[in-house]
Amino acid sequence: MKSEHVPVLALDGPSGVGKGAICLRVAAELGWHILDSGSLYRLTALSAKRNSSLNNTLQLIEIAKKLDVKFSAESDHLRISFGGEEVTDAIRVEEVGVMASKIAAIPELREALLDRQKAFAKPPGLVADGRDMGSIVFPRAELKIFLTASPEERAKRRYKQLKDKGIDANLPELVIELQERDRRDSTRATSPLVAAEDAVIIDTTNMSIEEVFSEVMTRAKSRFE
Ligand code: DC
Repeated sequence: MKSEHVPVLALDGPSGVGKGAICLRVAAELGWHILDSGSLYRLTALSAKRNSSLNNTLQLIEIAKKLDVKFSAESDHLRISFGGEEVTDAIRVEEVGVMASKIAAIPELREALLDRQKAFAKPPGLVADGRDMGSIVFPRAELKIFLTASPEERAKRRYKQLKDKGIDANLPELVIELQERDRRDSTRATSPLVAAEDAVIIDTTNMSIEEVFSEVMTRAKSRFE
């Protein structure tokens, strides 16, 4: 049976560039599903930490294959539930981000998450947020966008986000953490963070979120409508 073709918008880029917020708005505007692939790595890390199996690749793979995750788009954030437990905030803490970035370097784990991610492509369409959506997971995506911004600008955005949530943060430390995360994500041997050859690269350093949203929507409309 020929499976129905599902349009995919792959949106990749480094940590803190604002992909999450853009994906949420674009998915809402198009009425499409959303895949926050980073949260799958974060959930695998959180779950493994709870079972003390972070250093056991076989167990990590088992966890990844069975991840019971649900995304629900709220107006200003993506709610994530894991086996019925609300983990939206728990997976966002820096410690989980660092663990996720470390385990994301394991090729077998990336492989284990591949089918899981592909399964999110359901009609009427999918907006996929990640590092390798356009290059590896959805290489045939009709529209691939790669967002970038300087580490300093991304740290500022992360700082504001944390402050808005009432979380204390230190800007110079955030810059260093982001640079370290970039280094890990871009130098790993399997699926490093790189723009797909046919991706549209948008440098958002001097753009507002409104401007980025409108640029992405203009491209989405011309591609999908
Ligand atoms: O997007 P995020 O910060 O939630 O992602 C957490 C980590 O997961 C990130 O440091 C790298 C990894 N990741 C990945 O390797 N591939 C993806 N498609 C998404 C995230």
